[in-house]
Amino acid sequence: MSQMGELIGNIAHQWRKPLCVISTAASGMKLKKEMGVLNDKDFLNYSESILENSVYLSKTIDEFRDYIEFTNKKKEIIIQDRLKMAISLIESSFSLHNIKIIEGFVEKEKIPFRLILGELLQVLISILTNAKDALLENKIKDKWIKYELIKKEYSLQITIEDNAGGVDEKIIDKIFDSYFTTKDYEYSTGIGLYSSYDIVVNKLGGKLFVENTEHGAKFFIELPLNIDYVI
Ligand SMILES: Nc1ncnc2c1ncn2[C@@H]1O[C@H](COP(=O)(O)OP(=O)(O)O)[C@@H](O)[C@H]1O
Ligand SMILES: [Mg+2]
Repeated sequence: MSQMGELIGNIAHQWRKPLCVISTAASGMKLKKEMGVLNDKDFLNYSESILENSVYLSKTIDEFRDYIEFTNKKKEIIIQDRLKMAISLIESSFSLHNIKIIEGFVEKEKIPFRLILGELLQVLISILTNAKDALLENKIKDKWIKYELIKKEYSLQITIEDNAGGVDEKIIDKIFDSYFTTKDYEYSTGIGLYSSYDIVVNKLGGKLFVENTEHGAKFFIELPLNIDYVI
């Protein structure tokens, strides 16, 4: 449930701005018309901004529909696209909190992967949300997260690093346990990393682990590439 909450929270955040633009344009247009000062140029500007933003909303609905529907069918996706989608979901809330998103090395060659839609997105969102929580909790000044995607011979590796100071060594062995949390906010149930671990390790046959770097926590998601794709 909290996973869904995190996902919906990010979508809601991303939609707030275009929705606000649409309602501002519609009410501005109405007001000007009522006052008899709506000229053709205003009318076109308002209409265009309404149109542009509604197209954007409907496009994102299409993109996310697949993720919200919990179909249990595996589908072939392109890893880079899923990574981009996760980033685009958290982008606006990160920029609101002045968290810079740094794209490190990202493999250019498209990497196909078979999985159940939503699985990887959920893992990425959980890790990114945790990074945001840690950056805010520790009141870091120049906040950033950095992501990378590296293709190895038989696997691919996605890493997400933050500069929030890292996971406390006293609890680092427990963070993937179910219900383990150090937070007391309403939506923190301590299942984000537990369920991410379940997806990456048990469902996708990969590895999920964390290391503390000189900056903060760095999460590694390692997924085995199907032999078909390696050849
Ligand atoms: N990027 C991070 N930096 C520091 N601590 C982290 C980070 N990510 C996770 N943690 C720690 O791992 C714990 C478990 O994370 P998670 O399973 O997502 O649960 P929750 O976010 O609800 O606390 C967090 O409470 C936090 O103490
Ligand atoms: Mg979490």
